[in-house]
Amino acid sequence: MTSLDNQTAFVTGANRGLGQEFVRQLLERGATKVYATARDASKIDTTDPRVVALELDVTDPESVRRAAAAASDVTVLINNAGITTGGALLTDDQSALRQEFETNFFAPLQVTSALADQIIENGNGVVLNVHSALSWISFGGTYEPTKAALWSATNGLRLALAPQGVQVVGLHVGYVDTDMTVGVDAPKSTPEEVVRAALDGVEAGAFEVLADEVSRQVKAGLSAPIEAMYPQLAAQPV
Ligand SMILES: NC(=O)c1ccc[n+]([C@@H]2O[C@H](COP(=O)([O-])OP(=O)(O)OC[C@H]3O[C@@H](n4cnc5c(N)ncnc54)[C@H](OP(=O)(O)O)[C@@H]3O)[C@@H](O)[C@H]2O)c1
Repeated sequence: MTSLDNQTAFVTGANRGLGQEFVRQLLERGATKVYATARDASKIDTTDPRVVALELDVTDPESVRRAAAAASDVTVLINNAGITTGGALLTDDQSALRQEFETNFFAPLQVTSALADQIIENGNGVVLNVHSALSWISFGGTYEPTKAALWSATNGLRLALAPQGVQVVGLHVGYVDTDMTVGVDAPKSTPEEVVRAALDGVEAGAFEVLADEVSRQVKAGLSAPIEAMYPQLAAQPV
């Protein structure tokens, strides 16, 4: 069990969407300090004096090094920053896929690596990686493999960091009502309810949080035959 009271948190992509909500609720739960990081730190709301705005582009190793050096007292890391490009898998031009992997996969590993020593040393540590229900089901896009890979890496990081007393948590959720899903016409959770589920999970000592019914159904579906997950395959003349 890890209370968030009196913790020092570090949130990536904290200027909007889920990241901004993580900052708000971490403060609500008694965090003494939150490093709210963003590519443009001037976009961070610093009304609460416990918020420290830090410039951080998670895909830039030098930027990661600078932000980590400025946050030696961190105990809770929220790897939230992410992108979706709507790119295609079958294409000669892999730039969209590579860009998404840089942000959604390599960056959280880089940030975690940069902060791991201080999180371990400060004690009572937590690393939460924001995955997706799309870690477990594909709609054919470039985003899904990045979240599937991150899910696997989170499981590996958990094994590496558990003996050091660090709780590594994976958050899965279907659509959430943020800028990322502006063009999506489907039921969406609110950032408020997703972050509440995530932080309740952290405080309950969970390793994995399934924040909505969609993520619970998709995970349960993994044990069924693959055609049950992808019924459109039944109509294909393979
Ligand atoms: N919305 C959903 O339906 C949904 C569902 C499942 C999982 N997720 C995941 O939840 C996380 C947050 O997404 P969201 O819905 O809150 O999306 P969002 O509103 O689009 O916010 C994305 C955040 O990531 C930041 N970011 C992107 N690239 C970055 C970089 N290189 N360095 C630093 N920050 C960067 C953005 O900063 P800028 O303002 O500088 O672009 C922004 O703060 C992502 O990992 C996403 O994949 C979202």
